[in-house]
Amino acid sequence: MFTGVALAAMAAAATDDPEMAEIRAAQAWAFPKERTPDPSAPHTASAATDPHKVMHVPGSARSYTFGELSTNFNAPDWFPQDHPRAPGIVLHGPKPLWACGACHYPNGQGDTTSATLAGLPKAYILEQIAAFRDGERKPPDPEMSQEARNLDDADLQQAADYFSGLKLRPIRRVVETTSVPKTHWDGFVLAPDKNGAREPIGERIIEVSEDQRLYMLGDERAGYVAYVPPGSIARGAGIASQGTGAAQACESCHGADLQGVGMYPPLAGRSPTYIVRQLILFKTGQRNNAEAVPMRLVASQLSVGDMIDVAAYAASRNP
Ligand code: HEC
Ligand code: HEC
Repeated sequence: MFTGVALAAMAAAATDDPEMAEIRAAQAWAFPKERTPDPSAPHTASAATDPHKVMHVPGSARSYTFGELSTNFNAPDWFPQDHPRAPGIVLHGPKPLWACGACHYPNGQGDTTSATLAGLPKAYILEQIAAFRDGERKPPDPEMSQEARNLDDADLQQAADYFSGLKLRPIRRVVETTSVPKTHWDGFVLAPDKNGAREPIGERIIEVSEDQRLYMLGDERAGYVAYVPPGSIARGAGIASQGTGAAQACESCHGADLQGVGMYPPLAGRSPTYIVRQLILFKTGQRNNAEAVPMRLVASQLSVGDMIDVAAYAASRNP
């Protein structure tokens, strides 16, 4: 049994470990937070708006009240013509279930906080839901685990069939740059500073919606721009095809151009913030199901810099 003194010593050692310090720095931009307490932060997500106010987005014939957009029990479906008919659970969650589409969007593209589900292998989706339910996969926020525990098998099968049958469309630009908008957490996504301030990118990926207002309304056509450090895409291409020396080449399992093979999920065109977050979760043991063993080994051999490079490359590929 550990004594209080031994625990304090271990905590101090963990603080001094340069690898852990690097991971903690990356968590600041890769692990979603509700809000940055800073006067120059925008508060779009929490802005008090009349729940009866009727909202629109360009190009959609539909309208929703602000109240309808503010709950996870329903997913707005602004562009039903963009996807096949969705099963009930994707658009409506009979309490206590939430609608999958409220966080992953009806077309399965997801955002930087949730995951892309479009085009994931069905067996992989089923396995991840089991891992969330059984506590073997611990997401930074507990919602997905709660959802997995409430889901019954009929809804799960329908949702998994639906999402695995969709194709992710290209929804992000990856831009190499030295300078980025200063950003703040606003409703679990990064939003640009309201005074337009900028700052050096440093060793980070900064991924924002092309239009923060449309993002907040759930407009899945708005798209994303991911700012990445100069040279990262080319370095990431090398890691994907050759490995790092220690870590095995990603393409040897995730397939040519990272398009996914069998149970190995596709990485091409997906959120680079999500990819880095998952690599950290594998490395720190928060994705601990049996199928994650090969990935935990790979992630343990990557530095945060490697993760950024390979995520920038993966995101820049066409899905
Ligand atoms: C309240 C928001 C929310 C709802 C509703 C939700 N999810 Fe999720 N889901 C998330 C988040 C956030 C993650 C990513 C967690 C992380 O970063 O590890 C996730 C991840 C997943 C993953 C893992 C994807 C991968 O690539 O490994 C699957 C599968 C999934 N969700 C399926 C579903 C299904 C099916 C439903 C509906 C029954 C659903 N989710 C409803 C928030 C949600
Ligand atoms: C030895 C095979 C193997 C290699 C090599 C490999 N992976 Fe994986 N990867 C997997 C498996 C298997 C999974 C699914 C884990 C699970 O089912 O829980 C996975 C999952 C992932 C995920 C999570 C995807 C999601 O939807 O949440 C990411 C991100 C990832 N790998 C990135 C990489 C990167 C980057 C590299 C190269 C540096 C790499 N992988 C190399 C086998 C591999």
